[in-house]
Order: sequence, then structure tokens, then C-alpha cells
Amino acid sequence: MKVIVFGSFNIDKVYSLPHLPQRGETLYCDNYEIHVGGKGLNQALAFQKAGAQVVAAGKVGADGDYLTDWLSANGVDVSSVGRSDGYTGHTIIEVDPDGQNQMILFGGANREITPDYCDEIIEKNRDADLIMTQYETSCVEYMLEAAHRAGIRTAVNPSPYVDKVRELPYDKIEYIIANEFEGASITGKTEAPDIVRALQELCGGKVILTLGGKGSVYSDGDTTVSVPAFNVNAVDTTGAGDTFTGYCLYGLLNGDPPQTALRTASAASALEISKPGAAETIPSAEEVRAFLKKLS
Ligand code: RIB
Repeated sequence: MKVIVFGSFNIDKVYSLPHLPQRGETLYCDNYEIHVGGKGLNQALAFQKAGAQVVAAGKVGADGDYLTDWLSANGVDVSSVGRSDGYTGHTIIEVDPDGQNQMILFGGANREITPDYCDEIIEKNRDADLIMTQYETSCVEYMLEAAHRAGIRTAVNPSPYVDKVRELPYDKIEYIIANEFEGASITGKTEAPDIVRALQELCGGKVILTLGGKGSVYSDGDTTVSVPAFNVNAVDTTGAGDTFTGYCLYGLLNGDPPQTALRTASAASALEISKPGAAETIPSAEEVRAFLKKLS
């Protein structure tokens, strides 16, 4: 299975704090680390670890070559990642002792994607089975339209939610994978079953709604499946959604029943949040299998 993951490449600057800061508050940081990140990079690796052949698409500045080098060393094709004269995107991530976070995102090179670049990616990868994208780059709408025209299946993780997310070409999206906040913001609904139904009606395809500690739900209009989350000690939840996304969509595309795909993805993200960092802590498929076997 060949997947194009079109998305952001970020340098994640992670600050461990005694609590998330209040307005006007100055906090001493207990620990500072720099990690590879960005929803595009993280999801590219999650798909690769799950078993897909992955082509990454996006843009970095000169200060971001180590991101593409790292992804390439981990088996992802980065030959189509573009280069900017400006800065690579970066994220300031504040993490509290419960592993919860808040972020400041600088888009940088991620926001320099042009329609020409999208056309080039689609032209080079017409044999792809799926394109996966999120909302941290420019030209998301254009890329989806171009992929759809080329007959490539489409999946969107509408994250982070901004008002423009409501303008996505939903009739051309086959899979939406969103968290509760994103789903509620797009649909105006507040209860998970209503959000799932409204998202499914919007795209006419398949919807996966993640509910944090409450698990996840899949619906394709005919079948609806709910799967509980695994209870683990969360050290850093950054990248949990990206890990879930890669594993879940790989499973569904591979023909796994939704129950299996969601359970495997939940296990992968449970393992990922047990360690600090995002992409570096995405588990391998063997690790996920071993985790699930121990529970059975
Ligand atoms: O989803 C987690 C990612 O969101 C982080 O790696 C950060 O870079 C932001 O893009």
C-alpha cells in the first residue's frame, strides 16, 4: 500500500512545566528537549511503522534538513519534500506533569506550499492508494482536489481546527479522522454520536472520531463501532492523534474490520504517550502486537 502523507514538518521545542501557564504568569521549566515533529512527519512515520510504503510531501527550510534526514533514515521516501529559503516550522510545546500539553505553532516553510508543488506531487505519485493530510500547511484544499481528480483516495485529519477547516471539499474526502473538539467545531454538534453522524453526512464516507480516554468511534453510515481506550500512564500526549491516524487508516485500507483497526490504533497511541516526544516514540507494529498479546 502506497500512501502520500502531505503535511507539516516541525521542530518541536518541548518544555516540561509544573503546570500549564496562566495569562501573565512566568514559569520555570523543569526540562527542555528538542524533538522532530509536525503532523505530517509524525503521520508519515506512523503509516510507515504500521506497514505502508510512504512518500512524504511538504516543505522545510535549511534548518530543517535533519527532519527529512531523520524521516528518511526511518524508511520514508522524502525525495519530494520541498526546500524553502525561510525557516522550518516549529512548535513550542508546554507539557504538564499529567502529560497534557498546549502549543504555539509557527508555520514557516509549511505555509509556502503552492498549487504547482501539489500538481507535481500528484503527477509523480499517481499510483498512490491514498493521500493523507492535516491542516498545518497551505494548499490543503487544492491538494485534495488534485488528488481526487487523479483518482487517489483522500483522508483528512482536520487538525489543528481553524475556521477555514469548514471550507474543506468534504464531498471529495473519503476518510475524516478528527478528535471531539475538531468534530464539534466543524459540525456545531456537542454529543459524540451526533458529531459522528454529521461528519459522515458531510463527506458521505468514513468517519473516525477520537475521544481521548473515552476511546474512539468509527462510522461509515451503515456500520458504527466504538472501541475503548487503553489505560496507561500518560507522560506526553503529543503525537497520540498522529499515531492513531497512521495505524487506524493503514488497518482500514488493509481490509481490517473497523474494530480491529481502531483497537490496534488505540494500542499504538497508548504506547506512544507512555514516553516523552512524538515521532521518536511511535511504536513498531511488532511492539503493538506484543502489547495487545500481553492483554489477551
Ligand atoms: O500532533 C502533534 C504535532 O503537532 C507536533 O509534533 C507539533 O509539531 C504539531 O504540529
